[in-house]
Amino acid sequence: MPAHSTLSNPLREGLTSRALPEPCTVVIFGATGDLTHRKLIPALYNIAADGDLPPGTSVIGFARRDKSSDGFQAELEASNRDQSRQPHNDAVWSEFSRHVEYHRSEFGDPEGYLRLAARLPEIEARRGGRANRLFYLACSPDQFEPILCQIAAARLCDTGGAGWARVIVEKPFGRDLASAQQLNAVLAGTFPERETYRIDHYLGKETAQNLMVLRFGNSIFEPLWNNRFIDHVQITCAETLGMEGGRGAYYDSAGALRDMIQNHLLQLLALVAMEPPVDLSADGVRDAKINVFRSLRPMEGVEGVARSVVRAQYVAGSIDGKGVVGYREEDRVSPESMTEPYVALRIHLDNWRWEGVPFYVRMGKRLPKKTTEISVHFRKAPSVLFNRMNLEMRENVLVMRIQPDEGISLRVISKIPGGNLRMEPVKMDFHYRTSFGKASPEAYERLLLDAMAGDATLFARRDEVETAWRFIDTIERAWHESSTPPSMASYPAGSWGPAEADAMLAGDGRIWRRL
Ligand code: BG6
Repeated sequence: MPAHSTLSNPLREGLTSRALPEPCTVVIFGATGDLTHRKLIPALYNIAADGDLPPGTSVIGFARRDKSSDGFQAELEASNRDQSRQPHNDAVWSEFSRHVEYHRSEFGDPEGYLRLAARLPEIEARRGGRANRLFYLACSPDQFEPILCQIAAARLCDTGGAGWARVIVEKPFGRDLASAQQLNAVLAGTFPERETYRIDHYLGKETAQNLMVLRFGNSIFEPLWNNRFIDHVQITCAETLGMEGGRGAYYDSAGALRDMIQNHLLQLLALVAMEPPVDLSADGVRDAKINVFRSLRPMEGVEGVARSVVRAQYVAGSIDGKGVVGYREEDRVSPESMTEPYVALRIHLDNWRWEGVPFYVRMGKRLPKKTTEISVHFRKAPSVLFNRMNLEMRENVLVMRIQPDEGISLRVISKIPGGNLRMEPVKMDFHYRTSFGKASPEAYERLLLDAMAGDATLFARRDEVETAWRFIDTIERAWHESSTPPSMASYPAGSWGPAEADAMLAGDGRIWRRL
């Protein structure tokens, strides 16, 4: 693919020509937490550094700990220096942080919300213009409902027509269908669906957005994008991390299926598998995705789950030459844990386009490297001509690298120069970084700007979340409620997962792509 000479990234603006965001007040619940320090503030800072933050935008950090606004700003500055995508610039930071303040309150204390209800109009008056409010639930999920109830009671979401009020809800969005429905009901009682933004940061990744451009902006792929030409699809998300930083407590109650498959990887699958949307509006795209979720073939009972899903835990091994403990020995993980830090699934979609094409999806912690990619494996060329000569023919593979080294490559078969007919696969490779000359923005930058601009295209809609949970619940029930549950496999930390996952593909005459 041709290299672009321009230094600005033409994909930067994404798929829609988004309205310019208006200034607003971003209220972050859970402002002293990890997410705020590592992702949200650096994202807002980088939006400001790019000149895209509407002047007058303010941030209120809402949390329980006692601290002053000055102390809060100093802590945020320290973490921004570490985490920012672009180098920390003192001038940009000082302008940005002038509009950041701390609001101390318990999440369940009505008085704290009444103080906020008094403070917001002061900020809005100082800014001049509309009373726009963006509430961000970045705290622990058991606080989502109490916070929403308090927001409603203090009428913080009611701007009397003087502006908009929106809410961004972090994951996990429930832990099964019932809890997701319950959370959706509370949300619906506080914010209308069009002002509700369920974040899935994978949808904000540049390469995830590019999936639609690749499929529908080029004429050469779509005619081949179906069961006549595609043999199967693989989606892999590998991480080297284990349970660092006290994560074990949350993770051991979730597992890979809930933590990554229900949301991020099913969303990627939907982008690969969906029909062309009628338009690029939020509902146009989300209608196309929900049809994919609706066609997920449910696993049939415990046996169906045992046939098509492999769950596993890592045992002690090594990552980058360093010894690491097994999952059950990790900090804050139960020694008898039956939670899976690895899962591999064979997924079928019961629809016209994908009949008979398996989607193999795997996710694991403590694998040899951090990488996320989607590979589309085309059918092999017919067994005539070259195949007759006992030459092994590999299939064409289109790889979309979501991260790191974002890009796209296509494997084609080529003749090796020389007198003999020898063939080898070669790769046509496109790298974002070299082709567009600059790093992609962080997913949270894109998503925060979209929410400010009122564009929900890259956020999950209520029905998507619930339909995805319905599919996941069948598997969780087979694992945790059956008297004869499918077994838990194991793999050494630093390896590519359990032999059982290889066997699942081998049974279908396929292998996992080597990454
Ligand atoms: C989070 C999961 O949503 O995504 C984590 O809770 C996971 O377990 C993370 O590590 C991966 O995100 P990324 O952007 O680093 O691939």
